[in-house]
Amino acid sequence: MTATIYVVGNFKGGVGKTKTVTMLSYVSAVYKHRKTLVIDLDPQANASSVLAKTGNISEISKNVQDGFVNGDLTNQITHIQENLDLIAANTKFSKLPNILLSKFPNDDRQQVSYLQTLIQPLKDKYDAIYLDVPPTISDFSDNAMMASDYCIIILQTQELSLDGAKTYINYMQYLIDTFDAKLDVLGILPCMLRPGGRVDKKVLDEAKELYGNNVLQTIVTYQERLKAYDAEGISMGHMYTGNKDQWDQRAHQLFIDVLDELDTHQHLLKGEQ
Ligand SMILES: Nc1ncnc2c1ncn2[C@@H]1O[C@H](COP(=O)(O)OP(=O)(O)OP(=O)(O)O)[C@@H](O)[C@H]1O
Ligand SMILES: [Mg+2]
Repeated sequence: MTATIYVVGNFKGGVGKTKTVTMLSYVSAVYKHRKTLVIDLDPQANASSVLAKTGNISEISKNVQDGFVNGDLTNQITHIQENLDLIAANTKFSKLPNILLSKFPNDDRQQVSYLQTLIQPLKDKYDAIYLDVPPTISDFSDNAMMASDYCIIILQTQELSLDGAKTYINYMQYLIDTFDAKLDVLGILPCMLRPGGRVDKKVLDEAKELYGNNVLQTIVTYQERLKAYDAEGISMGHMYTGNKDQWDQRAHQLFIDVLDELDTHQHLLKGEQ
């Protein structure tokens, strides 16, 4: 087993990064039976909170902050449910820049590559590792991008703007040129987060013109159930008849489709190498 590492990116806040990380990791574990790990690198710890609820865990003491300080992430893993583990974040992790400066003074390359080093011993324990990051160009996103094989870029379909995705791709190129980052774009995922919203076809067409088949056919539409998972955790409910809850089914199926498409992209990219 050697894990493929994915970061979900866009340098804008509230575009659906954490939703995508939590849903893809859940689908990867539950429906694809892959051994899956989420590393939460955002001090806001939204992904940690959703996954803790998903696993009915009331308190998590292990965390990514201690792993970075002690130089070992392998003993900071919290088991969520079958095939799904988490390395949780906490607010203390906002001090990451200080940790990196004191460990590697005057060494930019080592500072951006620390996660890449720490993640190595985790790779043979998992099939897939998903990284959730804050919405800024920062030590957090640098470390995540350097450690990843692929990035999944969020495209906002309602903001009449490709800016977030464009900035991300430009910055990715900078890391490749400067620090020899190895990551590739796996896919650009159109996300729509507002109720009653419609997909902006013009933005979508423009994105397809610029990025071609990198843009996924599947569009993440607004779903109340996806929103509700923030408070309740991700689950599959059942009706009194024993049938699966149709809203859970719909939410899960959407991300099964996203993962299937991303898998196809990955096969194609690998074949090209
Ligand atoms: N498809 C969706 N349907 C309904 N609500 C959604 C959907 N995707 C995301 N949301 C909601 O939109 C909000 C922002 O989403 P999310 O937290 O995933 O964004 P983010 O990019 O991770 O934000 P940040 O930059 O702050 O980390 C959350 O309240 C989330 O529940
Ligand atoms: Mg987030």
